[in-house]
Amino acid sequence: MRTGLVGRHTRRVLAAAAGVILLLAASACSGGDEDAEASKVEVFTWWAEGGEKAGLDALVGQFAEECQGQQFIDGAVAGGAGINAKQVLTARLTQNDPPDTFQVHAGAELSEYIDAGRVEDLTGEFQAWGLRQALPQGLIDDLTVNGKIYSVPVNVHRANVVWANPQVLSDAGIHTTPKTITAFLADLEKLRKAGIESPLALGRDWTQLMLLEAVLITKLGPERFSGLFTGETSWSSTAVSAGLRDFAKLLKYSNADRDAMDWPDAERLLIDGKAGYQVMGDWEAADLTAKGFRAYDWFTFPGNGDVFQWLADSFVLATGAPNPDGTTCWLATVGSAPGQQAFNAAKGSIPARTDTPTDGFSAYQLAAVEDWKSATPVPSCAHGSACSQAWQNAVNSALSAYSTNHHSTTALQKSLAAAATQFVKQE
Ligand code: BGC
Repeated sequence: MRTGLVGRHTRRVLAAAAGVILLLAASACSGGDEDAEASKVEVFTWWAEGGEKAGLDALVGQFAEECQGQQFIDGAVAGGAGINAKQVLTARLTQNDPPDTFQVHAGAELSEYIDAGRVEDLTGEFQAWGLRQALPQGLIDDLTVNGKIYSVPVNVHRANVVWANPQVLSDAGIHTTPKTITAFLADLEKLRKAGIESPLALGRDWTQLMLLEAVLITKLGPERFSGLFTGETSWSSTAVSAGLRDFAKLLKYSNADRDAMDWPDAERLLIDGKAGYQVMGDWEAADLTAKGFRAYDWFTFPGNGDVFQWLADSFVLATGAPNPDGTTCWLATVGSAPGQQAFNAAKGSIPARTDTPTDGFSAYQLAAVEDWKSATPVPSCAHGSACSQAWQNAVNSALSAYSTNHHSTTALQKSLAAAATQFVKQE
């Protein structure tokens, strides 16, 4: 069994070093009936509609060109931030029914799959494809576990962004960008007085976590915020209590049906002029465009300064993948500059590779490319770069209980602190 794996791995690395053409030649040489079955590559993501699907389609177009003879099979399971997909994936991995490759966030979330032996070592491919030179060192560090690399990142997204409907704002007499949470709350109040009952569009648990994280970045600053996930910053501090009070105030301006909404439902409130603002990652830019709403505005969450809360989508070779050679070709496409250009132009993120041309990028994306070069990076728990899946589930449950049920920030803080105590040591 082990010998088989080593043999397969060696073959992958050789193929990677010689490039995609040799890889295809090699798999053609292995010939025989198994090729018909082996030519399918199941790609498991949660990119099922709007800008997310547009991004995936663009990548698949590139894959079709570069990996002829391989067929893309769409294993997408809908649900923002992978809220449903991750459950389905866990069940499939437990049943030894892995897709060939799956989407996973760089950082803590990826480490869990590595520790569980669910993904293959891609260190050789990474080297052969020049990714060590093409990716920023910080991202390489976040992908490396015990000196090895197990996934290929396709992008970098920013989480701490506020999206705005400028028409709604100007109708309410708002013409400047709020720089503090107090100013933001004042604008929300103005919108409400102007007849926008729920001016802050919000969705379920994980979207509330994004809002809370943005508030905590303002309250704690980047270093202490990041420390919340390493054990260096206490969740029981008065600064976190103050953040939770602001979070509670902000929630009062959101739609009452938030807990039943995924992020595109909340985004719809913004598009339809029923809300003025939404805090969401920058997949929103591409999604608004895909839905024909181009007149949006954006700004970094008030008080976050130059902090860029990052997350990165990456792809792995699943342990036991039915078609490792075809999957290697998918991963080569994901890691290539043309693949990253095609994907990111449609997805709204910025390329992980710093040498990717930016043709076709929106004004938002061009600004994000510049920000990423100089901003202060912090990771995201809602999107797996800061915390494990189990920790994220615990935080999401605590937020759900707060939003739907008890409305006590004291109880919420206790649950958040308990989750940190339970999970921080395992990171
Ligand atoms: C992913 C993005 C995706 C977003 C909303 C994030 O976790 O990294 O690619 O667009 O969730 O579904």
